[in-house]
Amino acid sequence: MRPPSAAAPSRPPTGAGPTPSPAGAGGDPTPSRDSAGAGRATPGPTPAVDDGFDLGHHGDAELRPGLVDLAVNVQRRPMPDWLRKPIVAALDDLAAYPDPAPARAAVAARHRRPEAEVLLTAGAAEGFVLLARALRGARRPVVVHPQFTEPEAALRAAGHRVDRVVLAAEDGFRLDPTRVPADADLVFVGNPTNPTSVLHPAETVAALARPGRVLVVDEAFADTTVAPDGADRGEPESLAARRDLPGLVVVRSFTKTWGLAGLRIGYLLGPADLIARLAAVQPLWAVSTPALAAATACASPVAVEAERQIAARIAADRAHLVRRLGELPPVRVAGTPASAFVLIHLPGAARVRLALRQRGFAVRRGDTFPGLGPDWLRVAVRDTATTDRFVAALADILEV
Ligand SMILES: Cc1ncc(COP(=O)(O)O)c(C=O)c1O
Repeated sequence: MRPPSAAAPSRPPTGAGPTPSPAGAGGDPTPSRDSAGAGRATPGPTPAVDDGFDLGHHGDAELRPGLVDLAVNVQRRPMPDWLRKPIVAALDDLAAYPDPAPARAAVAARHRRPEAEVLLTAGAAEGFVLLARALRGARRPVVVHPQFTEPEAALRAAGHRVDRVVLAAEDGFRLDPTRVPADADLVFVGNPTNPTSVLHPAETVAALARPGRVLVVDEAFADTTVAPDGADRGEPESLAARRDLPGLVVVRSFTKTWGLAGLRIGYLLGPADLIARLAAVQPLWAVSTPALAAATACASPVAVEAERQIAARIAADRAHLVRRLGELPPVRVAGTPASAFVLIHLPGAARVRLALRQRGFAVRRGDTFPGLGPDWLRVAVRDTATTDRFVAALADILEV
């Protein structure tokens, strides 16, 4: 596999960075956007013009003190001792510069890969920036939407001109690899995808890999997935251990399941030569000693076993949420959700979101995701009691 060279962009950049939120973080009434096309398939890639989607908006902007958080997809549970202790112990080593070697070895062992195929990052988010910067020579970057907006934001910030492939709501946001143009030499796809919660079959995603292309699969939420039949066989559609696919880079995060968003720890998995190029554009000592201690702990067999149990509980809680939402006629759950959040279609969702806030619940607006619009909301999976309170509030607002 020869990844794109690091030459200057062959096409002029759009110059369009993330646009400020039209509504601001204050969450005033959602600006109107024509929702007629929201979620519709487009025949080919859609040029990503500066079309008003606020790529820099994230769920934490929905939070206010006292609100029940259904907007951010980070799990909040007491930190287990096997994780807390090494993080706290790392505080005694803060005078020394970080040494990523032990954590890199632990992550490599977790995925049964050589250490040279691992790069630890300050969260998955840093991985997108490294990819965008190291692969400036890519001629046709394509982002499959709706998905987490930081990959496109990082590409644009690095001067790339980005094409979008927008998956169709009426098709359950299913990935059709033939929609991705053959000449795309840098492709970003999420699996499972935020915000749709759709988990694409591993072989469908793998079909996007080919010589001359870097395929970036964002698996930040892979550790939340279980096999549909509940069979315990690990993360069912992950490509993290696949070394046979040309140009495959898998992006992973430890911040979601382990509640470490503030610590910043994630990693990239890929061919050694590509990982070396990504490392070359990473700032020195980008990952702190406590974050490295967390990575070592979270890559351990104890952590992986615990993750499986958490994923099983999320699946049960998600089934409850989906069932309860099914009792509300105007609400339609998108696709087949497989992660720690659910995307819903609800006419007037922008208004409902504000009404939910009045009743003490923060949910994630959907209109900042390319491919969605003002009739979409993303709701985090929480325990059944919280879900029941949320559904009661929603039913009250909808008067059903
Ligand atoms: C799909 C997806 N990928 C990556 C990230 C970034 O994760 P991290 O906290 O590891 O930077 C997020 C954060 O919300 C996300 O939703």
